[in-house]
Amino acid sequence: MVNQKGGVGKTTTAVNLSAALALSGQRTLLLDMDPQCNATTALGLEPTEGHALVRDSALAESIEKTETDGLSAVPGSRAFHDIDRLSTAGERESGRVRRHLDEAMEGYEYILIDCPPSVGELTQTALAASTEVLMPIQCEYFAMEGLTQLIQTIKRVIIETDGRLTFGGILLTMYDPALELTREVDEEVRDFFGDIVFDSVVPRDVSLSEAPSHGQTVFEYAPRSRGAYAYTQLCMEVLQRD
Ligand SMILES: Nc1ncnc2c1ncn2[C@@H]1O[C@H](COP(=O)(O)OP(=O)(O)O)[C@@H](O)[C@H]1O
Ligand SMILES: [Mg+2]
Repeated sequence: MVNQKGGVGKTTTAVNLSAALALSGQRTLLLDMDPQCNATTALGLEPTEGHALVRDSALAESIEKTETDGLSAVPGSRAFHDIDRLSTAGERESGRVRRHLDEAMEGYEYILIDCPPSVGELTQTALAASTEVLMPIQCEYFAMEGLTQLIQTIKRVIIETDGRLTFGGILLTMYDPALELTREVDEEVRDFFGDIVFDSVVPRDVSLSEAPSHGQTVFEYAPRSRGAYAYTQLCMEVLQRD
């Protein structure tokens, strides 16, 4: 989940899409790479002292089960110096993150990475270790502003990884079809990105913003909410695309 802006729904999507995938029977791992550790706490887990990805031991040893059957997570760490080590150019080249993930990959159908709100080294490390980028875009003024740099970065990583990384999808969040602004952003984003924009959209829903404070996914907190429905739809679309 990548977007250099904060507050667009990366973490909400990482947590609830992961949960939906797990509930649909896919063994799923959520990896928290944001030092804010919001995905970790949203799942009712504790951030760790040091990030599992900078340890030499296998990632499997740091994976924790969540309350959702089939969903495991690698908690984030708030230790910035530690996270920095992850993302030095040398680390990216030696591919520690990618090696760790490749090892862990066997046990999972899906691994989702929640990225910090930047195009910095951490995000680039995550991109270099990934096969698909999912970019949430909030239906707000200036939704597309600043995306050029991010798209450039993604394109560069796609070239560097010989096409291992692909553009997986764009997700419109905080969607309200009654608003002129939402309709404008929808049209602009679909004109620009075309088919990779998901048909599914995520409405503004208070259940989605309340669930994390209970350490729950939206499926535990409010399974009948619009938010739960939206992430179920998105999950089905992801499964159909793959
Ligand atoms: N669809 C939504 N409806 C209502 N609130 C949302 C929705 N998506 C996210 N939020 C809330 O908006 C804030 C930012 O979302 P978050 O997923 O943390 O964004 P990011 O990870 O991109 O910074 C959080 O408080 C979250 O609970
Ligand atoms: Mg976040």
